[in-house]
Amino acid sequence: MQPMETLSTVATLRARVRAWKQAGERVAVVPTMGALHAGHLSLVHAARQQADRVIVTVFVNPIQFDNADDLATYPRTLEADSRLLSDAGVDVLYAPTAAQMYPPGFATRITVSGVSEGLCGGMRPGHFDGVATVVCKLLMQTLADRAFFGEKDFQQVQVIRRMVTDLDLPVEIISCPTLREADGLALSSRNRRLDASMRQAAVALPRALEACARAIAGGAEVVPALAKVAQDLTAAGFERVEYVELRAEADLQPLTALPPGTSARLLAAAWLDGVRLIDGMPVPPAA
Ligand code: PAF
Repeated sequence: MQPMETLSTVATLRARVRAWKQAGERVAVVPTMGALHAGHLSLVHAARQQADRVIVTVFVNPIQFDNADDLATYPRTLEADSRLLSDAGVDVLYAPTAAQMYPPGFATRITVSGVSEGLCGGMRPGHFDGVATVVCKLLMQTLADRAFFGEKDFQQVQVIRRMVTDLDLPVEIISCPTLREADGLALSSRNRRLDASMRQAAVALPRALEACARAIAGGAEVVPALAKVAQDLTAAGFERVEYVELRAEADLQPLTALPPGTSARLLAAAWLDGVRLIDGMPVPPAA
């Protein structure tokens, strides 16, 4: 196995990808903002199984942050990330600078309507424009055949799928299930901001969602079941519940009942001790 290369310019990246493609190799990309954890590595693992070459991008994308403090304090751990990726058998770590991605005069934004509205999109104005714009750039820069994303950010995956379909981008989007700690908490770079007691309280989020998903799949009424999640989170010490909703998986339409044959997902965002946590659970179609 060759050692991992770290590249930061589109020209060097394209030259490498061109050589791979001329040799008939399939290329995968895993876009990330760094601060890597086992959830990201599970995407890398899936990418390695489904492609000959794997690129991981590490870029803290300024235009998807709606809050300057959040951008300033976002963990940047490139050295540690690089070691993890090299050990995971990644071929190229692509880490461009903000000035390279958005040089003076940069004036384009991609807006995906519909699936980007409400949920995180409703709470974070401009967030999904920033995500769609940077992901489009990364897909075009890497020219990957397949791109891998985690389902913890379920709305993000649907926004990216819609963009890829609408813009005829020649890439297959693969989403991978959320990786969880032993107690059920979804892996997230934000978990490291929780102290020990808040980390324990955080488990209320997956537990409440799981109970709600089971109740709805078993025929419980949707609206009271969603309200119960919010109550459980408040009782566990969450200071603010942004949303708890049931949405159709395919187009993220809000649901107040589970129509037969519809795959749905419970989606929630809530604040615990100043940390915004999001999670989601599939709800199997009613028989
Ligand atoms: O999910 C993330 O880490 C980011 O939103 C992404 C997809 C890398 C775009 O910056």
